Amino acid sequence: MRDYREVGMRLRAICQGERDEIALMATLAQELFASFDGFDWVGFYRVVSPNLMKIGPYQGGHGCLTIPFDKGVCGAAVRTASPQLVADVEQFDGHIACASSTRSELVIPVIDDAGMVRAVLDIDSDQPDFFTPADIDALTTMMVDILIPIYNAEAYQAVGV
Ligand code: SME
Repeated sequence: MRDYREVGMRLRAICQGERDEIALMATLAQELFASFDGFDWVGFYRVVSPNLMKIGPYQGGHGCLTIPFDKGVCGAAVRTASPQLVADVEQFDGHIACASSTRSELVIPVIDDAGMVRAVLDIDSDQPDFFTPADIDALTTMMVDILIPIYNAEAYQAVGV
């Protein structure tokens, strides 16, 4: 199992007090990309309208700019509001191949306390069957601790609390 403790502690320290979505996403993408061999693309797609995601901060090769909800692994994650662990992208109907080297993939939805999917974290590997349910748990916890609070804070501000 991958050890997320060090990168988790570093991220919590660096991101302490930061409330800007892009600053947080950029830092998460860079730290995760740099921490694990085999994380060959790490980045975010942001929900920008009811059926559309646009690329956010990422590390790795060129990523597609736009993903509709009905396309790809990212689309499945946002539609179902649940993580998608794809051991072999060639077996996933509708996988969007931004890089032909990608073999496996993990997509974690970023869901606020109101249940809205705000974004997805997409991690691709050039190695087959690279991700496990332990990655889902560790990365989901990281999103809950570091990124999701800003969306909930936004909601509180909106109602003037
Ligand atoms: N893997 C994604 C597409 C985005 S890129 O790989 C960066 C998908 O099928 O949703």
